[in-house]
Parts: sequence; structure tokens; C-alpha cells
Amino acid sequence: MGGVVYQVYIRSFADSGGDGIGDLPGIAAHLDYLTQLGIDTLWLSPVHPSPNVDWGYDVADYRAVHADYGTLDDLDALIAGAGARGIDIWLDLVPNHTSDRHPWFRDRPEYYVWSERIPNDWKSVFTGEAAWRFDSTRRQFYLHQFTPEQPDLDWWNASVRNEFDDILRYWFDRGVTGFRIDVAHGLIKDRRLRSGEKYMRDRPEVHEIFRRWQEVAGEYIPKPTLMGETYVPLERLPAYYAHLDLAQNFPFLKADFDLDELRPIVETTMAELPKGREPVWFGSNHDHSRMATRWAGGDERKHEAALFLILTLPGSAILYQGDELGLEDGTVSKDRILDVADPPRDPERTPFPWTRGGDEWQSPWLPLADTSRNAEDSSILPYTRDLIARRRELGDGYRTLPSARGVWAYARGETTCVLNMTGDTAEHDGAILQPWQGLILPSS
Ligand code: GLC
Repeated sequence: MGGVVYQVYIRSFADSGGDGIGDLPGIAAHLDYLTQLGIDTLWLSPVHPSPNVDWGYDVADYRAVHADYGTLDDLDALIAGAGARGIDIWLDLVPNHTSDRHPWFRDRPEYYVWSERIPNDWKSVFTGEAAWRFDSTRRQFYLHQFTPEQPDLDWWNASVRNEFDDILRYWFDRGVTGFRIDVAHGLIKDRRLRSGEKYMRDRPEVHEIFRRWQEVAGEYIPKPTLMGETYVPLERLPAYYAHLDLAQNFPFLKADFDLDELRPIVETTMAELPKGREPVWFGSNHDHSRMATRWAGGDERKHEAALFLILTLPGSAILYQGDELGLEDGTVSKDRILDVADPPRDPERTPFPWTRGGDEWQSPWLPLADTSRNAEDSSILPYTRDLIARRRELGDGYRTLPSARGVWAYARGETTCVLNMTGDTAEHDGAILQPWQGLILPSS
């Protein structure tokens, strides 16, 4: 499955062209770095042509590469180069909506959700206002769960399903081995467009779409992985494992870095996980304040504790670029804000610091803030590498073990992981734990 998945936010990872925008050759030039880190999979943020109203999450062509990032040949070369090192490439698939500049919006209006009048109380995630926009050409309203420039596709339409089957095959044929599925819980809406959020997202019919995609994936060996961006409460997560290989656990990400909050989430996740499925853990992504800031408040020991947890729990782990360095949110002044969301997500999207001097970024699209944690001389990077290497020592499963207050102990098969979730020294089975220290104890 995913193993250790590294999420690359292309625009901010590595710029090979000197235009201040990260690109695909930039990623290819850093495959040594990623190999040394020990990751299994690279998940790329959307690569496709896009007017960038929502920075790539408004796709204008699902089969091409955005000129800012390079060419289709560059992507093929990255897939080949990564593959030669045993690293899988996953793309970010955005099937809930397209850009309003996608040719479908004019040529195939029946692919979208239309209504003569505003039919319900659904709100746009970004504007907070009605999720319906009047189109003067069609003289009807169309649905947009996000910005008005991101019209929602109508997943009740059989042609939309066929289009995406073909898009999946197009990329699997090119060697892509998985997708992260954007807004996976929200693809299909109530057919009658009834009011209420429960009719807008997390509809039972969504699973049929994933069942069908698994059939497509099943045409390939090894079968590609489907991971959903499943923004649902914990009790709704198991349903998504019916047909997704991985369902992203947002209650875990959103919890405070606190033993009493996180442990019950992990225990429930593990207890409810359908047989044969594996969980996936992460503390940062391009939509949320980075874990080095939000969870650790800049404290390196606490950040290492968060890495320890994510990388020693069973299943897959996702590191968002920079997590391995303890990179914090950048500072982006008001006049540099480019995001549509409120609060803006620019701070977690600032460029990746390769060096302390930061000279690798000339006039970057977002400011390169603090370079003190960088890939050249980070003290956290060796810790992360070592932890990824030591994942192999861990056994299967998860079982909470008795421990002192503030200490989280869990069995991974014959191995025991102990994590001091406090700023004080603690003890477990005779082992002394420094503040926020995690230890993998050999089987006794
Ligand atoms: C997902 C993406 C986010 C984007 C939204 C709309 O949540 O992660 O960045 O804005 O979908 O596509």
C-alpha cells in the first residue's frame, strides 16, 4: 500500500527553472534526497493545467501537465526515475469539480449540476454564501461547493463516470500507481437536491463510484492504490473502506497533540477498521497549519514526538514536505496572500528550504520565510530518516499497553513503542523517557 507517503506541493518543492515556481524536473533532481529519506510513495499535488483560482484544484485538462510545472515528458521521466528507485507516484485526482475553463463547462453542460432556481440551503465552502451561481448563457443556476469558478460535476450522469474511468486508465497506463481523491466524501449529492448538509456530502451512493474505480484499478498489476480525502467524523470512516484502500483520518489531524485526545482516536480507528484494511496517519497537509506549528508550537522535541507517533502507528503514514525537517508555517504578509480561503492557507504552502541561505529560490511565488530548518543542516532530518528505517522492526497490529500517566505505550506485534506525551521526564518498564521522547523497545 502507501507505506511512507511523501506529499509534494509541487509549486513550493524545488524550482529547476529559476522562475520562483517549483516544477517536475525540480522533483526529479531531488530523488536522491527522497530515496535517502526512505519514502515509498510520492503524492504530487495537482499537476494539470489550471487557472489557479484554487491553486491547481480547478482543473482545466485532466490529461495534461501545467506549463508552470513542465511537460508530459517531464512527468513520464519523473515516474520512470522514481520507479527505478522503488518509489511510486500518486497523482491528485479532482473529480468533484472542474475549472469553469474546462471545455466541458461550455461543451458538455449536462456534466454539471443545474437548477432553474436556487433549490436548497447548500453553502459554498469558500464564500459561505449560496453554493449556486446564475449562468447567464444557460439562464440556470449551477452548483459550486467551492468557488464559483469550480462548478461541481454531476456524478449521477453516466457520461461523467465514463470520462473518469478513461482518465484513470490514461494515468495508470503511464505508470501512475495511485490517486489521492480530492473531496472523496462529497462527489455525489442528493439526487433531489434536498436542503441540509447531510444531502450534500457523505452520500451512500458515493461508494458505488469507488467500487467502479477499483474495477478499473484491478485491470493493472500491481493494483494501483486509491486514497480518499475523506473529511468525515470517525464513525463514518469505516464505510469508506468498503472500496477505498486508504481513507484519510481527519479527526486525528484535527485533534490537539494531547494523549487524552489522540489515543481514543487511534483506538477507535483501529477497533473499527474493516478486516484487511490499514489506517493512514498524518499531521500536516497543504490545507492545514503544519504540525511543527499547530501541534509542536515550534518545540523540536514535541515535533519529534509527533513524527514518532505518525511513523510508528500501524498502516501508512503521510509526511507533508518539510515535516521531516520540523518546518513551521511560513509568515505571509497580507499583500502576498494568494489563497481564496479564509483563513488563507498560504502559510503552510511556502517554499521548501533546501539551504540555510535559501538561494535556491529566486523571487518565489510565496515568500521563503524562515530557512533555519532546512534540508542541509536540520537536526530533525536524521531523526526522521532513522525512524523511517526502524519502521521495519515493528510488528503488526496495535494494542494499547498499561503505562504511567502521560505516557502512551502500545504493542506493535512483539515490539513495544513508548512515547512520553509530556514535557517532564517519565518512566516505562525501567526505561527513562526524556520529555516528549519516543522509544522503540525490543521485545522482552
Ligand atoms: C481539497 C483540497 C483543497 C481544495 C479543495 C477544493 O480539500 O485539498 O486544497 O481547495 O479540495 O478542491
